Amino acid sequence: MPFRVTVIGTGYLGATHAACMAEIGHEVLGVDVDAERVAALQAGRAPFYEPGLEALLAKHVADGRLRFTTSYEEAAAFGDVHFSCVGTPQVENGYAADVRYVDAVIEQLAPHLKRPCLVVGKSTVPVGTASRLADRLTELAPVGELAELAWNPEFLREGFAIEDTLSPDRLVFGVRSDASRATLEELYRPVTDKGTPVVVTDFPTAELVKTSANAFLATKISFINAMAEVCEAGGADVGKLAEALSHDERIGGRFLRPGVGFGGGCLPKDIRAFMARAGELGVDQALTFLREVDSINMRRRTRTVELAREQCDGQFLGRRIAVLGAAFKPDSDDVRDSPALNVAGRIQLMGGDVTVYDPKAMDNARKSFPTLGYALSPEDALQGAHLVLLLTEWEEFRNLNPERLRDVVAVPRVVDARGALDPAQWRRAGWTYRALGRP
Ligand code: UDX
Repeated sequence: MPFRVTVIGTGYLGATHAACMAEIGHEVLGVDVDAERVAALQAGRAPFYEPGLEALLAKHVADGRLRFTTSYEEAAAFGDVHFSCVGTPQVENGYAADVRYVDAVIEQLAPHLKRPCLVVGKSTVPVGTASRLADRLTELAPVGELAELAWNPEFLREGFAIEDTLSPDRLVFGVRSDASRATLEELYRPVTDKGTPVVVTDFPTAELVKTSANAFLATKISFINAMAEVCEAGGADVGKLAEALSHDERIGGRFLRPGVGFGGGCLPKDIRAFMARAGELGVDQALTFLREVDSINMRRRTRTVELAREQCDGQFLGRRIAVLGAAFKPDSDDVRDSPALNVAGRIQLMGGDVTVYDPKAMDNARKSFPTLGYALSPEDALQGAHLVLLLTEWEEFRNLNPERLRDVVAVPRVVDARGALDPAQWRRAGWTYRALGRP
């Protein structure tokens, strides 16, 4: 049976969730405080680049299953189930997660809740948040305990957001009653019918599944990047090493791609918030290894700048550097904590004349790093360059033609910080090819 669902917060998570809830048959009302964003969504336009999202939004705005509003009052009157999908960024002066937006959803929604409903948190939060919010919900809602809370963390990856929402690896339901469990089971039936496993648990476990999943993924990436450091010192090839490791089923090959390290709006801030929360709980020792995971990750950026400088004969002054990639990863226009822009910015600070090209993230990059140079195509970025630096592994870059590009640059030298290019092909075409962790 279709539910009336609201999705509060229409960022990467919320906009995707709203479109996907409509896709599986529910009537959906998206809610955001940003009126401009609401107007764009209501016109079927995605507020950011995510493959397949715009088509899905447009489809369900057109068939009437999906609408958007800025009104919490309207949301409260409409919804049987309210999903809270707002962000939990890193606080300004520390490592902890800033939960003020998550709190604000309850503070603003609850006073309007006059009929029984389920409020479902999806944000990544410090363990203990859900139980605090549940108390506040009961306190503020006119229906009292008939407005229940559940925690249902989201594991989607940008670039695969639709696929990950419609066919997730698993669903996790943190619940306090059989009624909330039954509601979530019914709501997600079209997803679970395709075989998605469901783990039903309590609030703190549900919250921790998400933080520990991200901590594990970050650890895997930093592990292979630590091996890259050792490979460089020992003259070994981390690409081959990772390939060989990945044949061991206990290790697996995913999230074992060495390179300039992880960035984005999730992994970096989530591992820091996890450490901060462990400290508050008196178990900081359990997570000290994440400090190392974070340091290894940040060292990759420094090492990339160093390798680029070595390739520029020891200095950036008077050198043109073409940077390929600005997004924190391919198939996204997200530049939050992007290793690519961090490296580009540092090279510019050290005197380099940097020109950046990215297939989708140019607008966001310009807003965050207005002083960098920007080009409209890879060829433009490469004009007269003394060094080409590949920092995000877009498919478009893998397909570049090194023969043709050799005549565009001043010096045919490339540093491939994502291990995305074919070294033999570029070397055959007369380029000096260097990658992190490879001879
Ligand atoms: C991540 C988690 O994967 C997702 O489950 C969670 O819900 C949100 O955080 P996302 O931030 O979209 O998703 O990107 P992800 O694909 O995990 O990549 C994160 C970063 O790690 C990127 O900068 C990527 O380039 C880097 N990465 C990933 C590597 O450097 N090596 C790898 O092997 C994999």
